[in-house]
Amino acid sequence: MDDLVALCKRRGFIFQSNEIYGGLQGLYDYGPLGVELKNNLKQSWWKSIVYNRDDVEGLDTSILTHPDVLKYSGHQDTFTDPLVDCKSCGLRFREDQVPEQCKGEELTDPREFNLMFETNVGPVIDDSSAAYLRPETAQQIYINFKNVIDSTSRSLPFGIAQIGKSFRNEITPRNFIFRVREFEQMELEFFVTPGEDDAWHKRWVEERLVWWVNQGIPKDKLELLHVTGDDLAHYSKSTVDIMYQFPHGLEELEGIANRTDFDLGSHTKNQKDLNINAKVMENESSNARLAVQNESKEWIVPYVIEPSAGVDRGVLAVINEAYTIEDLGDNKQRTLLKLKKHLSPIKAAVIPLKRNNDDLVRLAHDVKTSLQKYQIGRVVVENTGNIGKSYRKHDEIGTPLCITIDFDSLEKNTVTVRDRDSMEQKSLDINNVNQYFLDYFSDESE
Ligand code: GAP
Repeated sequence: MDDLVALCKRRGFIFQSNEIYGGLQGLYDYGPLGVELKNNLKQSWWKSIVYNRDDVEGLDTSILTHPDVLKYSGHQDTFTDPLVDCKSCGLRFREDQVPEQCKGEELTDPREFNLMFETNVGPVIDDSSAAYLRPETAQQIYINFKNVIDSTSRSLPFGIAQIGKSFRNEITPRNFIFRVREFEQMELEFFVTPGEDDAWHKRWVEERLVWWVNQGIPKDKLELLHVTGDDLAHYSKSTVDIMYQFPHGLEELEGIANRTDFDLGSHTKNQKDLNINAKVMENESSNARLAVQNESKEWIVPYVIEPSAGVDRGVLAVINEAYTIEDLGDNKQRTLLKLKKHLSPIKAAVIPLKRNNDDLVRLAHDVKTSLQKYQIGRVVVENTGNIGKSYRKHDEIGTPLCITIDFDSLEKNTVTVRDRDSMEQKSLDINNVNQYFLDYFSDESE
């Protein structure tokens, strides 16, 4: 983990947030390369969940959330972790995360600590203006169910997908970007006819595993955990967690829950007329019927299958898998990030052999501009004048292709293309570079 954290800072992937004022614990900023990697991961998810299917719509909802949403969802009462104080040092910990040095000390009895961040909306600070930063993106999907149905005429089964920030005032944020207080989630709420829920649950677990493998996580580093007993959320009929071997241990990367009709049943009006199976709080406040009519015109409340993945945990997992120290013989090594091409922050670096040669630099910029127009991702001109150093840098940040412009480029119209993983170099006619680039990035499943 220390090596990853150091690489992330040195190369501009991830920084401690608010660092120049001492930092804020449990918050991180994504730097120039981190934002590209994170966007690529999110884009890959969106493509697989929304574009490559015909049964999912997207959504982007507000972060600030009406307290009633989190009252009826159960978050106000149950979104808590047990908190203990160490009477010796005065520090507070989650009950199951007391550090070694405090384990022998006297601790207070655990008390429930709500993880939601509360704020106020508007200029008057009182109970009537209270709001929360959402602790998951899911709730806003449920409360928009009717809006989406009315505007798209969807029928079951169909899903609503959202990627966005969530906030949890974690008692003990830890392990770099694994457990943080502000993070992003990629959540799909997939609505199905009751009775078809178990089959869809199974199907989504399989689909999500394939997607993670396509992001470069080997199948043997992923495990399925069937959540049982007290660990099963109160709303869930069954949850399968996709666990990944993070640098600090085997932990949850994504959870896939069968949430039954709990969510729509909690937020709907006319609950009594709807034959809701889940145990829900009586709701007199909602003004929308969150149900659909079946073929016999009966109203039914759909069940929800929810694959919910953390973007930040995903970034940590793909960087961890890609991080490679390769032995080159003669006591030489190179560090490289063997990222899948679609995730690489920079797709190609165009490197003029000499930084002060106007013709080489101009040609490098021309090549960059013509590759950039395909919008496959970021292409840069790396004008350091030091080819070896440029290759080392781009290996370390996971750039799949380096294209060197040298004097042959001016005289014979050729460039040298170097592959990150094999280090193989080949000479290409400059007129064939565009096609090579397009072919190179078209042969990967995302
Ligand atoms: N809507 C369901 C839900 O939010 P969750 O298991 O609490 O379920 C889903 O969260 C995913 O969000 C987790 O699998 C994890 O990847 C990510 N996640 C949750 N809490 C996180 C935190 N404090 N820091 C980073 N990622 C987190």
